Amino acid sequence: MAASSAMEQTLAILKPDSVRRNLIGKILAQIEESGLQIRALKRLTLTRKQAEAFYEVHKERPFFGSLCDYMTSGPVVVMALEGERAIERWRELMGATDPAKAAEGTIRRKFGQNIEQNAVHGSDAKETAAREVAFFFSALELAG
Ligand code: RTP
Ligand code: MG
Repeated sequence: MAASSAMEQTLAILKPDSVRRNLIGKILAQIEESGLQIRALKRLTLTRKQAEAFYEVHKERPFFGSLCDYMTSGPVVVMALEGERAIERWRELMGATDPAKAAEGTIRRKFGQNIEQNAVHGSDAKETAAREVAFFFSALELAG
Protein backbone atom coordinates (compact mmCIF):
# COMPACT_ATOMS: atom_id res chain seq x y z
CA MET A 1 0.00 0.00 0.00
CA ALA A 2 1.35 3.43 -0.89
CA ALA A 3 2.25 5.62 2.07
CA SER A 4 -0.42 8.26 2.47
CA SER A 5 0.22 11.79 3.70
CA ALA A 6 -2.49 11.17 6.32
CA MET A 7 -0.45 8.26 7.76
CA GLU A 8 0.54 9.18 11.32
CA GLN A 9 2.15 7.78 14.44
CA THR A 10 0.97 8.67 17.93
CA LEU A 11 2.07 7.75 21.44
CA ALA A 12 -0.26 5.74 23.65
CA ILE A 13 0.36 4.94 27.32
CA LEU A 14 -1.56 2.40 29.38
CA LYS A 15 -1.25 4.19 32.72
CA PRO A 16 -0.40 2.50 36.05
CA ASP A 17 -4.05 1.94 37.01
CA SER A 18 -4.62 -0.06 33.79
CA VAL A 19 -1.55 -2.25 34.29
CA ARG A 20 -2.36 -2.77 38.01
CA ARG A 21 -5.88 -3.93 37.18
CA ASN A 22 -4.79 -6.37 34.41
CA LEU A 23 -6.46 -4.37 31.66
CA ILE A 24 -3.60 -4.48 29.12
CA GLY A 25 -5.20 -7.17 26.94
CA LYS A 26 -8.67 -5.61 26.93
CA ILE A 27 -7.30 -2.20 25.92
CA LEU A 28 -4.96 -3.63 23.26
CA ALA A 29 -7.92 -5.57 21.80
CA GLN A 30 -9.93 -2.36 21.48
CA ILE A 31 -6.98 -0.63 19.78
CA GLU A 32 -6.55 -3.46 17.28
CA GLU A 33 -10.28 -3.73 16.61
CA SER A 34 -10.26 -0.03 15.69
CA GLY A 35 -7.81 -0.78 12.88
CA LEU A 36 -4.85 1.09 14.38
CA GLN A 37 -1.55 -0.81 14.15
CA ILE A 38 0.73 -1.31 17.15
CA ARG A 39 4.08 -0.31 15.67
CA ALA A 40 6.16 -0.63 18.87
CA LEU A 41 5.35 -1.58 22.45
CA LYS A 42 7.08 -1.96 25.82
CA ARG A 43 6.45 -2.07 29.55
CA LEU A 44 8.51 0.11 31.89
CA THR A 45 8.36 2.09 35.12
CA LEU A 46 8.92 5.83 34.78
CA THR A 47 11.42 7.52 37.06
CA ARG A 48 10.38 10.82 38.65
CA LYS A 49 12.74 12.66 36.29
CA GLN A 50 11.26 10.96 33.23
CA ALA A 51 7.66 11.67 34.33
CA GLU A 52 8.48 15.34 34.97
CA ALA A 53 10.18 15.63 31.58
CA PHE A 54 7.34 13.87 29.75
CA TYR A 55 4.68 16.13 31.32
CA GLU A 56 6.79 19.30 31.18
CA VAL A 57 3.99 21.23 29.43
CA HIS A 58 1.89 20.79 32.58
CA LYS A 59 4.56 21.87 35.09
CA GLU A 60 2.70 25.02 36.16
CA ARG A 61 -0.63 23.21 36.56
CA PRO A 62 -1.92 22.48 40.08
CA PHE A 63 -2.15 18.76 39.33
CA PHE A 64 1.46 18.38 38.10
CA GLY A 65 2.92 16.90 41.33
CA SER A 66 0.05 14.50 41.81
CA LEU A 67 0.16 13.48 38.13
CA CYS A 68 3.88 12.66 38.40
CA ASP A 69 3.28 10.71 41.66
CA TYR A 70 0.60 8.71 39.90
CA MET A 71 2.56 8.08 36.69
CA THR A 72 5.53 6.74 38.71
CA SER A 73 3.34 4.60 41.00
CA GLY A 74 3.78 1.43 38.95
CA PRO A 75 4.62 0.09 35.52
CA VAL A 76 3.09 1.50 32.36
CA VAL A 77 2.88 0.14 28.81
CA VAL A 78 3.98 2.58 26.10
CA MET A 79 3.12 2.12 22.44
CA ALA A 80 3.60 3.82 19.11
CA LEU A 81 0.31 3.49 17.22
CA GLU A 82 0.17 3.93 13.48
CA GLY A 83 -2.56 4.55 10.93
CA GLU A 84 -4.35 7.17 8.90
CA ARG A 85 -5.20 10.08 11.22
CA ALA A 86 -3.88 7.96 14.10
CA ILE A 87 -3.57 10.94 16.48
CA GLU A 88 -7.23 11.91 16.22
CA ARG A 89 -8.51 8.33 16.07
CA TRP A 90 -6.67 7.34 19.25
CA ARG A 91 -7.98 10.47 21.06
CA GLU A 92 -11.52 9.52 19.98
CA LEU A 93 -11.08 5.97 21.19
CA MET A 94 -9.72 7.19 24.56
CA GLY A 95 -12.57 9.63 25.26
CA ALA A 96 -12.58 12.82 27.35
CA THR A 97 -9.98 13.37 30.10
CA ASP A 98 -12.64 12.97 32.81
CA PRO A 99 -14.05 9.42 32.52
CA ALA A 100 -17.42 10.66 33.82
CA LYS A 101 -17.66 12.96 30.78
CA ALA A 102 -16.24 10.48 28.25
CA ALA A 103 -18.57 9.09 25.57
CA GLU A 104 -20.12 5.64 25.91
CA GLY A 105 -17.83 2.89 24.63
CA THR A 106 -14.59 4.87 24.99
CA ILE A 107 -11.67 3.40 26.93
CA ARG A 108 -11.76 6.09 29.62
CA ARG A 109 -15.52 5.65 30.07
CA LYS A 110 -15.08 1.91 30.45
CA PHE A 111 -11.86 1.73 32.44
CA GLY A 112 -10.99 5.19 33.84
CA GLN A 113 -11.43 5.68 37.59
CA ASN A 114 -11.32 9.48 37.89
CA ILE A 115 -9.92 12.56 36.10
CA GLU A 116 -6.35 11.62 37.08
CA GLN A 117 -6.43 7.81 37.00
CA ASN A 118 -7.99 7.78 33.56
CA ALA A 119 -6.47 4.59 32.11
CA VAL A 120 -4.68 5.91 29.02
CA HIS A 121 -2.67 8.73 27.48
CA GLY A 122 -2.63 9.92 23.89
CA SER A 123 -0.64 12.58 22.07
CA ASP A 124 -2.76 15.63 21.23
CA ALA A 125 -1.16 16.98 18.00
CA LYS A 126 1.39 16.16 15.29
CA GLU A 127 4.27 17.96 17.03
CA THR A 128 3.58 16.41 20.45
CA ALA A 129 3.16 12.97 18.87
CA ALA A 130 6.60 13.20 17.22
CA ARG A 131 8.19 14.35 20.48
CA GLU A 132 6.44 11.73 22.59
CA VAL A 133 7.13 8.78 20.27
CA ALA A 134 10.82 9.78 20.19
CA PHE A 135 10.81 10.15 24.00
CA PHE A 136 10.25 6.39 24.37
CA PHE A 137 11.30 4.72 21.11
CA SER A 138 14.47 4.67 19.04
CA ALA A 139 14.46 4.58 15.23
CA LEU A 140 15.47 0.91 15.46
CA GLU A 141 12.51 0.05 17.69
CA LEU A 142 10.15 1.78 15.27
CA ALA A 143 11.59 0.02 12.23
CA GLY A 144 10.00 -3.39 12.86
P1 RTP B 1 -3.28 12.73 28.40
O1 RTP B 1 -2.31 13.85 28.13
O2 RTP B 1 -2.89 11.83 29.56
O3 RTP B 1 -3.61 11.95 27.15
O4 RTP B 1 -4.68 13.36 28.85
P2 RTP B 1 -5.43 14.62 28.26
O5 RTP B 1 -4.69 15.21 27.11
O6 RTP B 1 -6.85 14.22 28.06
O7 RTP B 1 -5.37 15.59 29.51
P3 RTP B 1 -4.26 16.69 29.90
O8 RTP B 1 -4.98 17.98 30.10
O9 RTP B 1 -3.12 16.63 28.94
O10 RTP B 1 -3.80 16.17 31.32
C1 RTP B 1 -2.81 15.19 31.45
C2 RTP B 1 -3.19 14.22 32.52
O11 RTP B 1 -3.15 14.88 33.80
C3 RTP B 1 -4.14 14.32 34.65
N1 RTP B 1 -5.07 15.37 35.05
N2 RTP B 1 -5.45 15.55 36.28
N3 RTP B 1 -6.68 16.56 38.63
C4 RTP B 1 -6.96 17.13 37.45
O12 RTP B 1 -7.74 18.05 37.33
C5 RTP B 1 -6.30 16.59 36.27
N4 RTP B 1 -6.44 17.06 35.04
C6 RTP B 1 -5.66 16.29 34.26
C7 RTP B 1 -4.85 13.22 33.88
O13 RTP B 1 -4.19 11.97 34.13
C8 RTP B 1 -4.63 13.69 32.45
O14 RTP B 1 -4.79 12.62 31.55
MG1 MG C 1 -2.61 15.67 27.18
